[in-house]
This record gives sequence, C-alpha cells and structure tokens, in this order.
Amino acid sequence: MPTTSRTITVDVNGKTVEQDVPASMLLVHFLRDELDLTGTHVGCDTGSCGACTVHVNGDAVKSCCLLAVQADGASVTTIEGLTGDDDELTPLQQAFHEHHGLQCGYCTPGMLMSATALLERNPRPTEDDVKVALQGNICRCTGYWNIVEAVVAAGEGSGR
Ligand code: FES
Ligand code: FES
Repeated sequence: MPTTSRTITVDVNGKTVEQDVPASMLLVHFLRDELDLTGTHVGCDTGSCGACTVHVNGDAVKSCCLLAVQADGASVTTIEGLTGDDDELTPLQQAFHEHHGLQCGYCTPGMLMSATALLERNPRPTEDDVKVALQGNICRCTGYWNIVEAVVAAGEGSGR
C-alpha cells in the first residue's frame, strides 16, 4: 500500500520544523497552510508567476513547483525570514520602498526573494542582470521599471 504521508524535517527561517505532511502537498501550501507563513503568495499554482518564490538552500525556487517532502532536510527562507528579529527592512526592501517598487504588493514577496538571491550571487547587478534574474516573476500591476531600479539601487548601496 503506498505511503500517503511522510514526516519531514525542514529548517524554516532558522527554526527546525518536524511534521507529518501528505506526500502530495506542495511546499507553498506547507508554508502557508501548515506554518501560517502567508507572506509567500500563490498567484498561479503552475510555476508561471513567481509569487511563491522562496529560498531553498539559498536558491530562489518557486514553491508551487516543489513538494514539501522534497524539502526534507533543506533550509528554507521565506519573506518572513528576510528581516532579522528587529524587523528592520533589508537594504533591498528599503530600496523597494524608496523607488516605489510595489503597487498592490501581490508579487512583491516573490520579487524580493528572487532579487535577494541575485544580490547574494551578484552584489552589483546591471539592469540587464536584474531583468534576467526576475524574468520568472510577473507583476500584474506592471511596475517593472521601478522594481528593476530598486534592485540596481540596492546593489549600488543607495537606499541603505
Ligand atoms: S504560484 Fe508559484 S509560480 Fe505562480
Ligand atoms: S505590485 Fe501588484 S502585482 Fe506587482
């Protein structure tokens, strides 16, 4: 008889979580519905929009494209884990604020997670670097230019 659930151990935002999950549960639903980390959004559920982007072992990953069981043993960071205990904005979040990089905000957590991963591997990205890194993130408000400007500014150190 096939196993329908499995116990997984995941480091989420620095805390170890051990939990039984259905084998078919997506990581995004585990984060939102089981751990109440609702800052990770669901826009499409099909890997198209990037709203659900989180970091898995440091890489930006669309959490609707991964089963929770596939994250067993991994380290996951969500938008809630970007700030420290003091809740101070990161330089990138500050740059989004200063450059008006959000409108309705629905895409913003995914944008921030993808852009943070970019800045970690390329601290001074060009406009083109940012456009390539964010090509999997869709903004339905189409505020792309300000988003790109914010990420470039964060790399240049303005908005810090
Ligand atoms: S909800 Fe995951 S890519 Fe759209
Ligand atoms: S700010 Fe509304 S979807 Fe991007």
